[in-house]
Amino acid sequence: MKRLTVPAIRARKAAIAGGTGEPLVMLTAYTVRMAQLMDPHCDMLLVGDSLGQVIYGLPSTVPVTMEMMAAHGAAVVRGSHHALVVVDMPFGSYEASPAQAFESAARLMKDTGAAAVKLEGGTAMAPTVQFLSERGIPVVGHIGLTPQAVNALGGYGARGRSPAEARKIVADARAIAEAGAFAIVIEGVVEPIAVDITQAIDIPTIGIGASAACDGQVLVAEDMLGLFERTPRFVKRYGDMAGFVAERARLYAEDVRARAFPTAEQLYAPRE
Ligand code: KIV
Ligand code: NA
Repeated sequence: MKRLTVPAIRARKAAIAGGTGEPLVMLTAYTVRMAQLMDPHCDMLLVGDSLGQVIYGLPSTVPVTMEMMAAHGAAVVRGSHHALVVVDMPFGSYEASPAQAFESAARLMKDTGAAAVKLEGGTAMAPTVQFLSERGIPVVGHIGLTPQAVNALGGYGARGRSPAEARKIVADARAIAEAGAFAIVIEGVVEPIAVDITQAIDIPTIGIGASAACDGQVLVAEDMLGLFERTPRFVKRYGDMAGFVAERARLYAEDVRARAFPTAEQLYAPRE
C-alpha cells in the first residue's frame, strides 16, 4: 500500500468542506510495534515529543532531545507503510532562527525517513514555517496549548478563555496556515475557537481537546489505551492497558514463585 502523501492530507480539507471527505485520523506512535498496530487505521502517525513523559518519565517535553526524536521516528517509519509519519521538532531545535529549524528538520527527515515535521507556535513561528515549507520540508503547525511553552504558560490549562487570548489564537492559526503549513494541530482551547479556526483557514485542523468540528483528531495512543497514568479531560479511554499489563505481570510473578513456569512446553529437550 502506498503511503499517504502531504498533498493528499492537505486535500482532505476541501473534500470535508465539500461533504465527501472523512475526518483525518491521527495517533501518536513511538515504537515499531505500536506503529505496526496503529498504521492500518490512521491517516497520520505522530512521533510526538510527548514521548518525553510517556516513554522517558520526564517532567515535561522541554528536555526531549533530537536524538530521542530521531531514534523513535526511525522506528515508527520502519513500522508503518500506510500513514504519513510526522515527527515533532523538540524544544530548542527550531526557535532560534529559520536556518536552525531547517538544519534540525532536515536532520530529522534524513535520520527517520519521515515526510513531515511538526513545530509549536503562532505568529512568531510563521516565518520559520514559510522558510521550511518553501524548501521541501512539509510542516504541521501546533497552536493553542503548546506544551513546550509550559514554563511560560504556567501549566496545561485550556487556552483562549478571554476574548483577547481567543483572538490571538485565531491569528496564530491564520499566520501558520498562510505561511504554508499543510495541517495544524489545535490543542487545549475553548471549543468555539477551534470551530472558528476550522472555518477560517484552508488547511486541515487536527483537534486535541479542541472540537468535534475539527477536520481531524489526534490523541496520545497511551492515553487512549489507558496505559499512561494521567487522563486529561480531552482523552477518551478505549481500554485499560495499565490494568491489563499489571495483572499479567502479577500472574507471571505468581507462576515463577510457584515454579508453575516454565513447563516442558516452553523448554528444549536434548536430542535423542
Ligand atoms: O507530542 C504529542 O503527542 C503531540 C500531540 C498531543 C498533538 O504534540
Ligand atoms: Na508534541
